Amino acid sequence: MKENYYFDNAATTWPKPEPVYQFMDSFFRSHGVNPGRSGHTLAVEAEQMIFATRRMLAEFFGHAGDPNRVVFTQNATDSINLAIRGMVQNGDHIVISQLEHNAVLRTANHLQRDSNIAVSVVEAGDTGYLNVSEIIEALKPSTRAIVINHASNVIGTVQNIEEIAAAAKQHGVHLIVDSAQTAGVVPIDMSCGIDVLTFTGHKGLFGPMGIGGMIVGESVDLAPGRFGGTGVDSASLFQPDSYPHRLEAGTVSIPGIAGLNAAQKWFAELGASLDAAAEDHQTRCNRAISHIHDREMSHIERIANHLHAFDSVTVLGSGQGPKVATMSFTVDGMIAQQVAEMLDADHYICSRAGLHCAPRAHEAFGTSANGAVRLSPGYFTEDEDVDHLLEALSEVLE
Ligand SMILES: Cc1ncc(COP(=O)(O)O)c(C=O)c1O
Repeated sequence: MKENYYFDNAATTWPKPEPVYQFMDSFFRSHGVNPGRSGHTLAVEAEQMIFATRRMLAEFFGHAGDPNRVVFTQNATDSINLAIRGMVQNGDHIVISQLEHNAVLRTANHLQRDSNIAVSVVEAGDTGYLNVSEIIEALKPSTRAIVINHASNVIGTVQNIEEIAAAAKQHGVHLIVDSAQTAGVVPIDMSCGIDVLTFTGHKGLFGPMGIGGMIVGESVDLAPGRFGGTGVDSASLFQPDSYPHRLEAGTVSIPGIAGLNAAQKWFAELGASLDAAAEDHQTRCNRAISHIHDREMSHIERIANHLHAFDSVTVLGSGQGPKVATMSFTVDGMIAQQVAEMLDADHYICSRAGLHCAPRAHEAFGTSANGAVRLSPGYFTEDEDVDHLLEALSEVLE
């Protein structure tokens, strides 16, 4: 018996690859200085590590342009706020989906309630997949952007982002993609037509909490959403226009960026070990991503097959298609929290119960009242962990 069986990787991946812990510790000890503010050697070296991380992330996400357009933030929520608010102007309209996380939903709702921004919500229905023709139907002459959750954090359905990007381009609107649940588990290539890609560091990218970012494609400029020191253009009384300073005000997180840096190298090394012919960073990382995805999906498929055998269980999402390893279910006669508490107290299993910060998605699945139990294995989940989970589920459900 272990102390914990962690099936909450959709909330945050845990544990991280060992080099992430090691490099965060060593770099913070050796270079825990304020980068970009001072001209001394340590500050310059810290800045070099930050730029190397921007470059790796740009390649990772297929951004061929300036690596300085990789902007660091606190997390996906911060990036999404900055991206949407930095893009819209008075009188604009945006299109979002029913599957959005509160990071998008609340940002959009506040703009609609407090500013002159209109919002349309495209339904996903209980399949969990969006129909691109419905997104196109929602467009208006005033539509500035489509904002789309790449994978649902409730049921793991992955949207066809290339098709949505093509439609956005054809209709002259920008596309902002929330990759919180896909970055690191689904290959993403911004060159398919994504204007702004937002990401969080602590999930599939295997960094720590407190670091996230976005890549602002050359097709668009975002208005700065916060103002302050950048270490450059200090005489200017306004935020510099250049990236990343336009959107990065204040001191960035050296430990957070060091974590992402080590994680990027870990992806590339894993990919190279699987395919010696993979030469560049993106190809290596994509090889690693497909290996990670396969492993996680083999776990989630075992869990789903097990749950389908119980008449009292409903697995959410009727659609068949590309997914990440996240699923939610309900149990007749029990509220989700009860199930999660039994799994935790009696079997040391970490799951998540409730509305998963996506209230409109729960409307689609009819689970707004009692919520759902979410299970999300990760790359470091072992077959024996899944064995233990299946036994525990049988005990709780029988
Ligand atoms: C789809 C989606 N978007 C955004 C977020 C917000 O991420 P963060 O908490 O890192 O800001 C999450 C987190 O669960 C998510 O699943």
